[in-house]
Amino acid sequence: MRVHLYGNQLMLRAVTVFAFALFCIISFGHVEPAFGKDDGVTSIFSPLAQPAQEIKETSILVLAVCTVIFIVVAGLLVYGLIRFRHRAGDEASEPPQVYGSNQIELAWTVLPILIVFVLILVTSRTIADIQNRKPPPGAVQATVVGHQWWWEIRYPELGIVTANELHVPASTGNSHQPTFLKLQSADVAHSFWVPQLAGKTDLIPNKENLMWIEPTIPGTYPGNCAEYCGTQHARMLIRVVVHPPDEFDRWAREQQQSASIATTAVEGQKAFFANSCVNCHTIRGTSARGKFGPDLTHLMNRETLGAGAVTNTPDNLRLWVRDPQKFKVGCLMPNMQLTDQEVNQIAAYLQTLK
Ligand code: CUA
Repeated sequence: MRVHLYGNQLMLRAVTVFAFALFCIISFGHVEPAFGKDDGVTSIFSPLAQPAQEIKETSILVLAVCTVIFIVVAGLLVYGLIRFRHRAGDEASEPPQVYGSNQIELAWTVLPILIVFVLILVTSRTIADIQNRKPPPGAVQATVVGHQWWWEIRYPELGIVTANELHVPASTGNSHQPTFLKLQSADVAHSFWVPQLAGKTDLIPNKENLMWIEPTIPGTYPGNCAEYCGTQHARMLIRVVVHPPDEFDRWAREQQQSASIATTAVEGQKAFFANSCVNCHTIRGTSARGKFGPDLTHLMNRETLGAGAVTNTPDNLRLWVRDPQKFKVGCLMPNMQLTDQEVNQIAAYLQTLK
């Protein structure tokens, strides 16, 4: 009776493992944006750029090979469980004892080695293909710096500094305009991951990593930090905004401008410069030159606040200025204990930063 139960338990375990594997395969590679229905869920199985396309092809091959192995192994296991299950009258006899078979042992040694060898070759080729790509003339160069918990984005050649939204041109039929990224970290390890554009690449303190993306379809691509980096790791979202080439040039020209001089929110501007905001934030064209927090020169150009914590609306902006800890506990910007009047004035000033 005990032996019989054991067989059932094994079967249960096999089914559980199978269900878990299926769950992993289905949920694998999904990024759920923190908000916003329109950008939906993004998946590595619907790539819209190089190198994500190439990575998907390799992934499918690896998944297919592993699925076949899984089906064969699980099939043999289930067959063995059913065919050789406990039957009444088995107690007296011992099953036949088989010791070794050269053919079978050779087969299950050589075959896996061949399979592993094929997978190594295919994966190495994909990795080499991606890593050896050199920037063609005209490629956009950007530096992405991971911070707890936001992304600093610099375009050294264009003289632009922004945050949390990486703008890049789309490659069109006859002009390849990939974007090459230098990845750095200001504090701990982060990982840059926009599933539909490319694989993950880590941002490591004191080390520069390189990656590139070449999207062809304009649109907004959501992504996440993919390396646990502290309490607000989940609210370290990145968006890549892909523009048609001429639109990208227009965006770059706008970003190169210094901040517009406030004519409507003069009180707020005074309050901003009288408080310690300037110690952490830069607003180009003013005396605010802080480097610890995001550059605010064109803050209103961005869709979100706090690296995707909330949408950038006037109400959220006001709440953020009042107490950033409400939206993002543990972020480096403290509650500045501003009065209601100061909050409203500063928020009004920030809204002039278009
Ligand atoms: Cu940055 Cu996780």
